[in-house]
Amino acid sequence: MVKNIAVIKGDGIGPEIVTQAQLVLDKVGEKFGHKFNYTDVLMGGCAIDATGVPLPQETVDVCLKSDSVLLGAVGGPKWDTLPGKLRPEAGLLGIRGALKLFANIRPAKLFPSLASACPLKEEITNAGLDLVIVRELIGGAYFGKRDTYVDENGIKTAYDTMAYSDFEIERIARVAFEMARKRRSKVHSVDKANVLDSSRLWREVVHKVKEEYPDVEYYDILVDNCAMQLVRNPGQFDVMVTENLFGDILSDEASMITGSLGMIPSASLGEGTLGLYEPIHGSAPDIAGQNKANPIATILSAAMMLRYSFDMAKEADAIENAVNAVLDEGFRTGDIMSDGKKLVSCTEMGALIVEKI
Ligand code: IPM
Ligand code: MN
Repeated sequence: MVKNIAVIKGDGIGPEIVTQAQLVLDKVGEKFGHKFNYTDVLMGGCAIDATGVPLPQETVDVCLKSDSVLLGAVGGPKWDTLPGKLRPEAGLLGIRGALKLFANIRPAKLFPSLASACPLKEEITNAGLDLVIVRELIGGAYFGKRDTYVDENGIKTAYDTMAYSDFEIERIARVAFEMARKRRSKVHSVDKANVLDSSRLWREVVHKVKEEYPDVEYYDILVDNCAMQLVRNPGQFDVMVTENLFGDILSDEASMITGSLGMIPSASLGEGTLGLYEPIHGSAPDIAGQNKANPIATILSAAMMLRYSFDMAKEADAIENAVNAVLDEGFRTGDIMSDGKKLVSCTEMGALIVEKI
């Protein structure tokens, strides 16, 4: 198969990690008889520097015409003082909206070879830790009406609105139930229905959808309790579905308890097969350009692309197995380094994974 991939390398460590993921994809192509064509496009800080805006229209056009999008990371201190709409992050929100990617899939799994990096006690993780957060990605507070204003008394006020419509909740709930069926058949829907109207509608709609999935075990859980349960007993979770802001926060928490932020990929999906794949970590400007970054989350994001956008399960397995094999042999980038392991650079880690495919 021939697939056209739009590539957004982004800022900070973005270019280094994406380059390694492309080398891995090339090796998969060679081995399985596919051709991946790449088109580089700008987004984030580098786009601001080159064009004045974080998300040039050309980037949106190229992405829409591609079979999928691979993204490194955006942002950095250089652009932190720009107004909201001109920040690199606005580019990321913009591309998610423009491609209508409403479902963000964030797996958090404890890699057995990295168990010592997990900050939780062993008795807590003995039950395992393998969950997926299904985060609604283009609604809620990040996309709602907002403003900052000064009233006649000189009082400055800012607000953001968290609004959800029934159809937005319904489609993300379906993604979660379908995903649960392919896993351990359990869904926790996370909300704040004891306080928020948007959460009460969320719960009402998810309850309707769950009638279609009687085979899936189902729980409502309040977001504050959920944050606590994630560190108390993460083994109870299989698929978690939640709105944008809660999902943003809980997915950072979930990734931390795996002990390896640098290992976690994500997929953002819409109605069709076009998706955007990116590591969940940021652009790490402090180590950019030093060949120290961990490329594994981006490489695993490429594997998710093969699985979800291109229906290439064998190929995705090949990448995931290669990553596991390299970790089993004791190779580590700095972020996941521990005593007795072999420290490697970003390019070395990429090459080791390529070799195993
Ligand atoms: C993420 C990030 C983004 C988000 C930011 C950079 C806009 O934190 O992907 O989780 O909040 O969605
Ligand atoms: Mn986040």
